[in-house]
Amino acid sequence: MADIEAVVWRDGELVLLDQTQLPQLETHLHCQSVDDVVDAVRRLVVRGAPALGAVGAYGVAIAMQQAEREGWDEQRLAAEVGRVRDARPTAVNLAWGADRVRPLMVDGIAAVLAEADALVAEDTAANRELSRIGADWIESRCARRPLRVLTHCNTGALATTGWGTAFGIIRELFERGEVELVYADETRPLLQGARLTAWECARQGIPYVVQVDGAAASTILRGLVDVAVIGADRIARNGDTANKIGSVGVALACHAAGIPFVVAAPSSTVDLSTEAGAEIEIELRDGREVTAWSGVDYAPAGAQGFNPAFDVTPAAYIAAIVTEQGVIEPDGDASVAALTAP
Ligand code: MRU
Repeated sequence: MADIEAVVWRDGELVLLDQTQLPQLETHLHCQSVDDVVDAVRRLVVRGAPALGAVGAYGVAIAMQQAEREGWDEQRLAAEVGRVRDARPTAVNLAWGADRVRPLMVDGIAAVLAEADALVAEDTAANRELSRIGADWIESRCARRPLRVLTHCNTGALATTGWGTAFGIIRELFERGEVELVYADETRPLLQGARLTAWECARQGIPYVVQVDGAAASTILRGLVDVAVIGADRIARNGDTANKIGSVGVALACHAAGIPFVVAAPSSTVDLSTEAGAEIEIELRDGREVTAWSGVDYAPAGAQGFNPAFDVTPAAYIAAIVTEQGVIEPDGDASVAALTAP
């Protein structure tokens, strides 16, 4: 079966699989303007750090096309590229993707698109490689077979340019015949786990259950999980890792239960300019995502929602960080810098 394509450049448009509609509908959004791109990123039509990296790169090409159509000057174009780059703050990949192609703007749209295509190919290859590395590490640390794996949010092909990161490791383990069951945390409030990870598990034939986020600690402490694997939106120099809200609770439960909590990401998610997790900006989303569903309030009128979209897991609670460059165990001597591309 062909892999999911969350982000594609086709016929001069950025075509996004609309993840707000999954799993009920498979529809695509065609972006032609900076407003289209920024809106799609903010509404989570496209989401997941590596996928946002691709959007950052192609978004620069969209801005250049719009500049040509509408006769923007250099200053306006730079500001519009900045709007794409900063549409969401936590995943470093969005800015990284835009910054990677920006130096090529002087060479024209074709040069920017060629670089964006290269970024996509590299990301998919990185995901395949980190999945092999992560699966090897888990095999060497977890004795039980087959494995019961817990994951949080969605880190599959939908969240990347192909294959997946943490979910890519699960796919790799499944291909090796080593997965008994995946516990997919539902991932409040937008249900990336219940809607998207469950959809990807079903497509791949991977056995899974969806559990509420509040069940994760109990499932782990009851001995029902062998390893937890999550993705990352930004990995700081000291190994502290930002990921979907709820991740740190999973890490604490793994620590208490003595099972490994593994972080998997391409090296583009490692941000050596951020020293520690406390420096990472955590996106605060609309409180109504917490107090209402599909426009219907379920909290009392006037209730305020507190809705941080991410949290930071201290490196001390992470057993291993995996990128395509290798694996480090943060409590050892190895530095996160070893996980970045040479
Ligand atoms: O708000 P989202 O859905 O963009 O959050 C996504 C996550 O937290 C993912 O775990 C992370 O970006 C890694 S995706 C491979």
